[in-house]
Amino acid sequence: MGRVLVVDDEPGIRSVLTDILQDEKHVVFAAADGFAGLAILKQEPIDLVILDVWLPNLGGIDVLKEIKQEYPEIEVIIISGHANIDLAVRAVKLGAYDFLEKPLSLEKVTTLVRNALTLEDLKRENRTLKSSLFMDDELIGQSKPMQEVVELIRQSASSEAKIMILGENGTGKELVAREIHRQSPRAGGPFVEVNCAAIPDTLIESELFGHEKGAFTGAVARRKGKFEAASGGTIFLDEVADLSASAQAKLLRVIQELKFERIGGEKSITVDVRIISATNKDIHEETANRRFREDLYFRLNVIPIFVPPLRERIEDLSALVTYFMRKFKEPDAPEPKTISPEGIKLLEGYPWPGNVRELKNFVQRINIMADEQVISPETVRFYLGEQRVNGESASLRDFSGMKLGEARDEFEKKFIVRKLEENDFNITQTAQSLGVYPSNLHGKIKKFGIQVKK
Ligand SMILES: Nc1ncnc2c1ncn2[C@@H]1O[C@H](COP(=O)(O)OP(=O)(O)OP(=O)(O)O)[C@@H](O)[C@H]1O
Ligand SMILES: [Mg+2]
Repeated sequence: MGRVLVVDDEPGIRSVLTDILQDEKHVVFAAADGFAGLAILKQEPIDLVILDVWLPNLGGIDVLKEIKQEYPEIEVIIISGHANIDLAVRAVKLGAYDFLEKPLSLEKVTTLVRNALTLEDLKRENRTLKSSLFMDDELIGQSKPMQEVVELIRQSASSEAKIMILGENGTGKELVAREIHRQSPRAGGPFVEVNCAAIPDTLIESELFGHEKGAFTGAVARRKGKFEAASGGTIFLDEVADLSASAQAKLLRVIQELKFERIGGEKSITVDVRIISATNKDIHEETANRRFREDLYFRLNVIPIFVPPLRERIEDLSALVTYFMRKFKEPDAPEPKTISPEGIKLLEGYPWPGNVRELKNFVQRINIMADEQVISPETVRFYLGEQRVNGESASLRDFSGMKLGEARDEFEKKFIVRKLEENDFNITQTAQSLGVYPSNLHGKIKKFGIQVKK
């Protein structure tokens, strides 16, 4: 059963729809115009809106746009008279689920509402499935340093204390942050990640705290920030050392007062979020050099968790390989492939500058490329050699004998491949870290014939 909001200026339609929907055991709210409807959306969690396209004051199309902007997960069914069917069609193009024509047929209303609510359910399920499928690995590691991390997670999850996770690239900082959230009393709430390094300085405050319409050029509509989105859950400030000075100051204020204003807004917003931050920079050096505020550092770093590099817990490698081999098994293969003991030894001798992420990509690649069920040391050596080339920054010698244009292309290609690997072949994320638009990145991938694995 769903929670449905009816927005229509005709009292007759409001009461008929309310009756029909209540008979179907839905919880129904009703509003006589767009402003009243939006006010209810602010107060109540709603699954579905039935919206008259022709409303006094704020028109149905504007209400729809606002709903899609602020609450994209809510489905909207449009009601329209025959005279303004063109508006209803426009509404569907703008993201409405479907429209009903007046006079309303009882049967149509009930089936359409039922379908829209199932869709809404499916989408929600899909979202949780997606995040659990693609984002989370189990935290693998029996080594002493990893067991200490596991123990720290267990101890700190139940508290509200702010945690700062430190460690090199690809060591598993984000995984640790998600694990803390999962074990915390906030597990039912959202986990919102903000990559502070990927967002330009000029946009970071709006990203974190939101803005009101017209707060600056380009702020065409009101937008909620990540802090609001994380309400009731956890916000994960990744690469926190990269925040600009003014964003640092604002963040400090939020932490002290637990409230903030949207950019260009007057109203103070109180939020209930737990803050976890992470960085791969040397945070002591950042504070010593005054690039990172010391007072903010003390606030964020109540409990530090250091995730050691893979080479300092190399005894975990074998279990990680087994885990990733199982993960990347082809659906029709009877058993996951394995790597021979000598092959594992070779891997244990490699320094893994990209840590677990690099190992994960390596296992994915060798699993696709190698034909053997038990992968031989020769094959490991072959692909590990390739790994070194990919993993290390190209030296000038690699470009000798090339014209400038060729060398530039070659470097660009290598650099893009590397960034793709670092970002698990997620195009949006890679584009962000490269500072280009996804469409631009797609163009380059095509131009250089890069294989995008996934
Ligand atoms: N102990 C582990 N067990 C299983 N998978 C792991 C482990 N550590 C990391 N991974 C996986 O390796 C990849 C990289 O981990 P993650 O993104 O958490 O690293 P990170 O420290 O946040 O890296 P960066 O500093 O580059 O952002 C992810 O796919 C993650 O699921
Ligand atoms: Mg990370």
